[in-house]
Amino acid sequence: MKNIAVLVSGGGTNLQALIDAQGRGELINGRITAVISSTPSAYALERAKAAGIPGYVAARKDYPSSQAMTAALVDKLKGLDIDLVVLAGFMVILTGEMVRAFPNAILNVHPALIPSFAGPGCYGLHVHEKALEYGVKLSGATVHFVSEECDGGPIVSQKAVEVLPDDTPEVLQRRIMEQCEWQLLPQAVSLFCQDRLKVEGRTVRVLEHPECGRRNAE
Ligand code: GAR
Repeated sequence: MKNIAVLVSGGGTNLQALIDAQGRGELINGRITAVISSTPSAYALERAKAAGIPGYVAARKDYPSSQAMTAALVDKLKGLDIDLVVLAGFMVILTGEMVRAFPNAILNVHPALIPSFAGPGCYGLHVHEKALEYGVKLSGATVHFVSEECDGGPIVSQKAVEVLPDDTPEVLQRRIMEQCEWQLLPQAVSLFCQDRLKVEGRTVRVLEHPECGRRNAE
């Protein structure tokens, strides 16, 4: 069983999707054992509490530098024996030490079809503002492994939805959360926990379920 830490900063609807998936038995071979928030007042911490998951705060202002915050987080995660770190609306950019401490073991959900509307400055509602400004007809979400390049790691899964003529950033954000993020993230976490995500360069291969492999060989 793999221990999962979910890092959050705000409302925590993606955290809730993970908690709900766990409740339905859909996080196969994984369990959420910690929620760490960069904001003490984040509603995500209430969601963790309601689900009986220990919550912690790691606020950027409590550390002299980004390096110091990253080092403290790495210590905390290692101390909690975490196997998978999930960035679910975590709005602090960590330094490379985090990626080196958890190679191919950090997943992020981004609310656009990477490489569009990604990188520094593209987070939360801004992503949807930029997509509408650009006039794209499709947008969506991406789950990817975290590398040292912001939003640049190998892509695990993507899903698109239509952008509609009267969309506001808020309406588009909600559609992408409901139809993309809340489905993709629990699926990716479950695949990781079953050791079914194989990173080959920039490509992530999804290995078939061992049961299917055995059936096919018979
Ligand atoms: C989500 O849309 C997530 O994809 C996005 O922030 C929102 C958090 O919502 N993350 C980023 O923009 C990261 N670059 P939530 O707190 O309700 O899950």
